[in-house]
Amino acid sequence: MVVLGIETSCDETSAAVLDDDRVLSNVISSQLVHTKYGGVVPELASRAHQRLILEVIGQALADAKTDLRGIEGIAATCGPGLVGALLVGLNVGKSLAYGLRIPWVGVNHMEGHLYSTFLGEPRPAYPYLSLVVSGGHTMLVHVPGPLHHKVLGQTRDDAAGEAFDKVAKMLGLGYPGGPAIDRRARLGNPAAIDFPRSFMHDHPFSFSFSGVKTAVLYHLRRLGVTPGDESSLPDTTVNDICASFQRSVTDVLVSKTFRAAEMLSVRHVSIAGGVAANSELRERAAAECRKREMVLSTPSLEYCMDNAAMIAYVGRLRLESGLVSPLDLSADPGLAISEVGDAPPQTRSGATA
Ligand code: KG4
Ligand code: ZN
Repeated sequence: MVVLGIETSCDETSAAVLDDDRVLSNVISSQLVHTKYGGVVPELASRAHQRLILEVIGQALADAKTDLRGIEGIAATCGPGLVGALLVGLNVGKSLAYGLRIPWVGVNHMEGHLYSTFLGEPRPAYPYLSLVVSGGHTMLVHVPGPLHHKVLGQTRDDAAGEAFDKVAKMLGLGYPGGPAIDRRARLGNPAAIDFPRSFMHDHPFSFSFSGVKTAVLYHLRRLGVTPGDESSLPDTTVNDICASFQRSVTDVLVSKTFRAAEMLSVRHVSIAGGVAANSELRERAAAECRKREMVLSTPSLEYCMDNAAMIAYVGRLRLESGLVSPLDLSADPGLAISEVGDAPPQTRSGATA
């Protein structure tokens, strides 16, 4: 089945064409307009999606050497995310499906990340455990089979990516902060500062990253740094803070992931979402897998960030199992990840759009 995927949940405008599980194209246009504000400005994101979406879809079709007549189904992200941003991709997707008289399906953005590891090698084998770490979410998910998944635990406050972004902002490293902290951490000493690790032993699969973020803030205050004055910090100090902060976050992510993997006796572990691009997290997870003879799947960087190929992948799984969405399905900014047995926004029928 040839599926056109559309993703506009945050600040990436993306369209992709998949032929079964082969990615024919994956066009991602990152909105640079937000950089100077130090975070995503929702209204600017919606406007940029509106400006870009048709061009991005056109490029995805051209890269895939096809046109709309070659598309057999459409999948668009319906949540979670920024409501105005989601509505752009969702409405374009529904309109195209209606006009082309082909089935369409709304896809949960987090399910996209969850299954994005199938777009690269090695693919996870079911059952597997996935750590999904992005700017808005941090969750451990058990995946016994395709479209069957159960969230074991998630963050109680900040997501890991959000903590990276906020700490980067405190250090004047710009937005998004994850890649900048990752780069600077490589130059610093991870043992320089003993930032707290929130293991929450009573809740082994839940996360909390607001404590370490606040600890960085207090550390900066002790150094006499006031907001806006970060440039007074010597490079070595910034590098050490980045390395120590990143070590604290990866200690928690790695330890909880492998504790869950052992508890579930899975042989395959996957790490997905924007923070899965983090070099220390990837290296440490790979080392833990080698030690336990487990197989680690992490998407290539293109599929870690928000992208439409992962939305098309989940869309195809849903469409091929007869799950289509009604045309009045709307965007849900707080959409929870569906659990085993749930019937998320789709209706099970042979009906098309
Ligand atoms: O999945 P994603 O592209 O968007 C969301 O769904 O949130 O994730 C974006 C998040 C941002 O917080 C960004 O700082 C983080 O992923 N990120 C990283 C790295 N690259 C992106 N965090 C740590 N290290 C990285 N190399
Ligand atoms: Zn995402």
